[in-house]
Amino acid sequence: MQPTFTPQFRDDLSALLAWRRDVRHFRRDPLDDAVVLQLLATAQLAPSVGNSQPWRFVRVRSAPLRQALAAHADAEAARAGDAAYEGERHAAYTALKLHALDHAPEVIAVFCDEDTPVGMGLGAATMPQTREWSVVMAIHTLWLAARAQGLGLGWVSIVRPETVARLLDTPPAWCFVALLCLGYPQEPDLVPELERRGWQARLDVSACVSEV
Ligand SMILES: Cc1cc2nc3c(=O)[nH]c(=O)nc-3n(C[C@H](O)[C@H](O)[C@H](O)COP(=O)(O)O)c2cc1C
Repeated sequence: MQPTFTPQFRDDLSALLAWRRDVRHFRRDPLDDAVVLQLLATAQLAPSVGNSQPWRFVRVRSAPLRQALAAHADAEAARAGDAAYEGERHAAYTALKLHALDHAPEVIAVFCDEDTPVGMGLGAATMPQTREWSVVMAIHTLWLAARAQGLGLGWVSIVRPETVARLLDTPPAWCFVALLCLGYPQEPDLVPELERRGWQARLDVSACVSEV
């Protein structure tokens, strides 16, 4: 039977969305494997173009691989900062924590299988990028489901897709989408970390909506 979504549930959902957060500081407590598997199963419920379900999750369990990913992210973050900022802005940038690959209890690399026969290409002929957008939908589903369990997720994108693919030895048709860090947040917060650090606040919704 279809569930009824009560006003209380709607309030709770709003709170979940407001408290989601991108997390870069995790407690060291290990995650129960069953919880991680349940979150991945929930992500599987996400919508996808042609129902192609092109997301591929690689759980990075190897310590040397994690270290290699963290070192690579550090190098790319430094390179990006040197190229883009100077002076005080550069100092503010270097003070930011941009990944938790060094200490997150769980690291998951997410790819899009561009060659999947599932869904038989339906809907992706004119916009093949919809496959990658589908993967992002799955990540967001995982993100919210994690937060509902009291967990935090951090999305790391300051990496080179070809380097991640080489380190993880993934099939050529898998396009890299994200590195995810997962664990219990050190300090849950209602305000994005970049806003708290004075880098970038949330915009009012009116700045992002127009009418024609
Ligand atoms: C596609 C994508 C890539 C991101 N890449 C990074 C990243 O490399 N490092 C990082 O610290 N945060 C990254 N973030 C997190 C954003 O900085 C964060 O979502 C934003 O500041 C808003 O904060 P909130 O998610 O806590 O609301 C990324 C988020 C998205 C959606």
